[in-house]
Amino acid sequence: MKIITIGGGAREHAAVEALARSGAEIYAVMKNVNPGIQSKAAKVLICDEDDIDKICDFAIENFVEYAFVGPEAPLSKGVVNALQDVGIKCASPTAEAARIETSKTFMRELVTKYKIAGNLRYNSFDTAAEAIAFVKTVPYKVAVKPVGLTGGKGVKVQGDQLTNLDETIEYINEIFEGHVGGGKVIIEEKAEGEEFTQMVFTNGEDVIPMPLVQDHKRAYEGDTGPNTGGMGSYSDSNHLLPFVTEEDRAAAISIVKDIVAALAKEGCTYRGTMYGQFMLTADGPKIIEINARFGDPEAMNVLTALVSDFGEIVKWEAGGKLKDEVRFANKATVCKYVVPRGYGVKSEPGHTISLNLDSIENSGAVAYFGSVDMKENRLITGTSRSIGIVGIGETIEEAEQHCEKALTYVNCDAIYVRHDIGTKALIQKRIDHMKQIRGQ
Ligand code: AMP
Ligand code: GLY
Repeated sequence: MKIITIGGGAREHAAVEALARSGAEIYAVMKNVNPGIQSKAAKVLICDEDDIDKICDFAIENFVEYAFVGPEAPLSKGVVNALQDVGIKCASPTAEAARIETSKTFMRELVTKYKIAGNLRYNSFDTAAEAIAFVKTVPYKVAVKPVGLTGGKGVKVQGDQLTNLDETIEYINEIFEGHVGGGKVIIEEKAEGEEFTQMVFTNGEDVIPMPLVQDHKRAYEGDTGPNTGGMGSYSDSNHLLPFVTEEDRAAAISIVKDIVAALAKEGCTYRGTMYGQFMLTADGPKIIEINARFGDPEAMNVLTALVSDFGEIVKWEAGGKLKDEVRFANKATVCKYVVPRGYGVKSEPGHTISLNLDSIENSGAVAYFGSVDMKENRLITGTSRSIGIVGIGETIEEAEQHCEKALTYVNCDAIYVRHDIGTKALIQKRIDHMKQIRGQ
């Protein structure tokens, strides 16, 4: 199969590796030179990832048949609609279907309309005055979110980033004044518990669940600091998480299935990967957000564990038939992102970074290149997450050790890693927290 892939991060590198294992001929579009993607691609186009005209021309010139889109920005601009118009089959959603991510109000309204489980109380506001009047009287703690896209960094939660009412009001004003994420606000009830990610493959009708993953959004160890795109993530060999039961997972899968069905009923069939971010509460999983793509870093966990042919899954999502059951290895994975110093507040990019891929592999790990670039034959860090290192093992503990060993083969003088991700101590904290929430 000839496929165009859009995106130059570690999530897209993981997808490109999986497609390359399927024998796909890859035409890669990215804004930076990602050497991992470049080494697997038949041809590369360096341009803005939401430059729809250039992307369509590149696809047409190279007679590609399929498309896979990694990031949300091109989805929101309708890259899939444009590619479909020129006859390319897409394993990613149209702009209409992607509203499930690009408008948090659309998502909540859809879930309300179809009486789907796991919803939270929410209110959307077009003016700062109305939002402020609401937070002054609301009797529960809230999460304040810009309605549109913010690269996963626009959410502030009372009791976490917002310590009092004044800070909450200040943040609401900041969103409206700065026109952050479209300049409208959604205020949601705060859900208390532990978060997990359930992603599925879907052709718009059937869903195939992937293993559960837990991401770590906070920038610093011990879950402190600002929210980021995600500092690292882990998955377990049984495809559950140490604090999530089979029943909790089934509830989450059922919610995602209902959302896929609701979108089809609304006339915007959803194809591709759907990402469900849940808070496991005393009352079961609650929807935190739904994304129209793979999670980053979560894609690195699941695609590393994927045994089945990813190319066949992509063809099925785009409208074809699936011959075999989709299988993931019964292995645990721990992903830690190497990020530029300052990431989450103000990154210090432009530093030389080097790694020894053979030694990383011999450590029982894989490296995925992210926001890096090639300048005068040197690999340099960009402003976002540089390299994802995924350790693989029989247990989370073993995968974590493999990841740590592999990290010693990454060298740069201006990087930061959250070493606590996947450690026994942090996982025990999650288990204890969940027990406390469930009153056990
Ligand atoms: P999002 O970008 O919507 O995933 O939000 C970023 C982070 O904010 C999530 O991973 C949660 O940790 C937190 N968050 C978002 N919404 C809520 C909510 N309603 N209740 C509690 N925490 C939330
Ligand atoms: N890891 C969170 C996201 O991709 O949105």
